[in-house]
Amino acid sequence: MRSDANIAGPMTEPVPGPRTESAGDGVSRETPPPMDDTPIGRAAQLAVEALGRAGEGLPRPEQTRVMVVANQKGGVGKTTSTVNLAASLALHGARVLVVDLDPQGNASTALGIDHHAEVPSIYDVLVESKPLSDVVQPVPDVEGLFCAPATIDLAGAEIELVSLVARESRLQRAIQAYEQPLDYILIDCPPSLGLLTVNALVAGAEVLIPIQCEYYALEGLGQLLRNVELVRGHLNPTLHVSTILLTMYDGRTRLASQVAEEVRSHFGKEVLRTSIPRSVRISEAPSYGQTVLTYDPGSSGSLSYLEAAREIALRGVGVHYEGQHAHTGGSISQQSNSEGIQ
Ligand SMILES: Nc1ncnc2c1ncn2[C@@H]1O[C@H](COP(=O)(O)OP(=O)(O)O)[C@@H](O)[C@H]1O
Ligand SMILES: [Mg+2]
Repeated sequence: MRSDANIAGPMTEPVPGPRTESAGDGVSRETPPPMDDTPIGRAAQLAVEALGRAGEGLPRPEQTRVMVVANQKGGVGKTTSTVNLAASLALHGARVLVVDLDPQGNASTALGIDHHAEVPSIYDVLVESKPLSDVVQPVPDVEGLFCAPATIDLAGAEIELVSLVARESRLQRAIQAYEQPLDYILIDCPPSLGLLTVNALVAGAEVLIPIQCEYYALEGLGQLLRNVELVRGHLNPTLHVSTILLTMYDGRTRLASQVAEEVRSHFGKEVLRTSIPRSVRISEAPSYGQTVLTYDPGSSGSLSYLEAAREIALRGVGVHYEGQHAHTGGSISQQSNSEGIQ
């Protein structure tokens, strides 16, 4: 059994170990990126081992867990969390597919997947009914990680889908027809609640909401929660908000801890105990076509995503960390009208 000292509380570094120098700009600068001659996937694997849990393994879900990473606000860490959690789960030994559902294609970029206009993409799946297997590509350097890329074509899909049959369930059908064994599918949604996001909500059972630890963090969440309710009521009875992840947490500011407290008091047990720190390494990694797991495996950002992924995997088999913030009773939907969430 793991020691509690390694479970990150909201105010602490996620896991002990990363070297962090304080920088004047409010973010941490950490270990240098891996040497050029170090295979980056191997370096990331070493980071997993450095957590001291190499042989321990994580439980794999009995069925594929389809997780929709959604928040209609832009810039809250949806894409960053999708790719880094997916890479973390893969490094923990799971088989993981990232579905890039944002026309910006940021998740595809971050995973080093080519997504220029001619590449077969999720647009072809949604609009042209192409099988998902025709567009899925393996992610370089991370074994067990795959990506269905988004190209700029997807920008038109929101409109084109309107006139198609079963317009809300095209992604669901494609996923159901996909025969490769997978432990997780993570869907990176665009910053809107249009038909692309609705397709994701119909395809998945779990919603993962990243919340940035900034002012107005909860604003707009009520609308997302109501949409989840609508889709649950009409199109997908299994849908529920299973996971809230606090992102860009800066433990030195009172604002971040106040936001974290507020989110925990509203959402309770769905909030992962591990929060993701604000870190330069996390924001640098995509420009190298990498996740932070391979870009700087020993950084606090990398270790916190590994830890968050671990929590997600354990929760999938019913293991919840109990802590001072653990909430008893009441589902998120029941709390969605509480004060503070509009
Ligand atoms: N933990 C973090 N520390 C520092 N920068 C971050 C962190 N998470 C995300 N970012 C940066 O914030 C910006 C928005 O993140 P992104 O994941 O693209 O948000 P979204 O997909 O919700 O629009 C990006 O530039 C990203 O690199
Ligand atoms: Mg994004």
